[in-house]
Amino acid sequence: MKGVILAGGNGTRLHPLTFVTNKHLLPVYNKPMIYWPIETLVQCGITEILIVSGRGHAGHFLNLLGSGKKWNARFTYEVQENAGGIADALSLAEDFSDGGKIAVILGDNIFTAVGEIKKGINRFTRQKRGAMVFLKQVKDPHRFGVAEIRKGKIVGLEEKPRHPKSKFAVTGMYLYDENVFDIIRALTPSGRGELEVTDVNKAYVKQGVMFHTIISSEWRDAGTFDSLLEANVLIARAERSTKRKNGK
Ligand code: G1P
Repeated sequence: MKGVILAGGNGTRLHPLTFVTNKHLLPVYNKPMIYWPIETLVQCGITEILIVSGRGHAGHFLNLLGSGKKWNARFTYEVQENAGGIADALSLAEDFSDGGKIAVILGDNIFTAVGEIKKGINRFTRQKRGAMVFLKQVKDPHRFGVAEIRKGKIVGLEEKPRHPKSKFAVTGMYLYDENVFDIIRALTPSGRGELEVTDVNKAYVKQGVMFHTIISSEWRDAGTFDSLLEANVLIARAERSTKRKNGK
């Protein structure tokens, strides 16, 4: 399966940190933020990766990440002309996906373990069609896309609901079949003028082919001051404990 990292957007929630640089280039502990989703994909065995970034910073990503050789991976780049939302950025991956299934990860999503994601990917590869989301139980679901689950199946999704129907946040890791691009073409912009990933996922729920994997390991999206700080602390702890285990 090929992978796509979405690293566009204006990062307005992090102003003034993101006035002159891109959110995904800010540090999370000892690495630029985008290194973490790259490592998540690579550790899942996904090494053909498309990086979609905004116009102003595309050159920075290329300078920083290059061909992908450092990760034994191959990177391709696309530029999103205007910040039109996650689904708009994803539409640029159509040629790259070449009619196959794709794994999509948001550039500000920090996962601390890949075991559960790998299992989800394996399960999804056996499905003929559909999509898969990775859910994580959180204290503040109103900040995210939220899943409503009945009898083990997702029956509804809401983007940043005021009154969440569950504590299950939809993380920024998605698996899609090739129909995702037709679904995006049929979308209309939301109230904030963007093509929403939650609307893409709702289409799969409606068709009855939305699968999910619940993850128990720690996860953060680093898009706000507090979650960026938490992501730093989380990764610092994880890295130190790995170093200790390796006797360094
Ligand atoms: C986006 C999605 C949301 C998801 C979140 C995960 O939100 O719209 O459904 O839960 O990523 O990081 P955003 O961070 O763009 O507000």
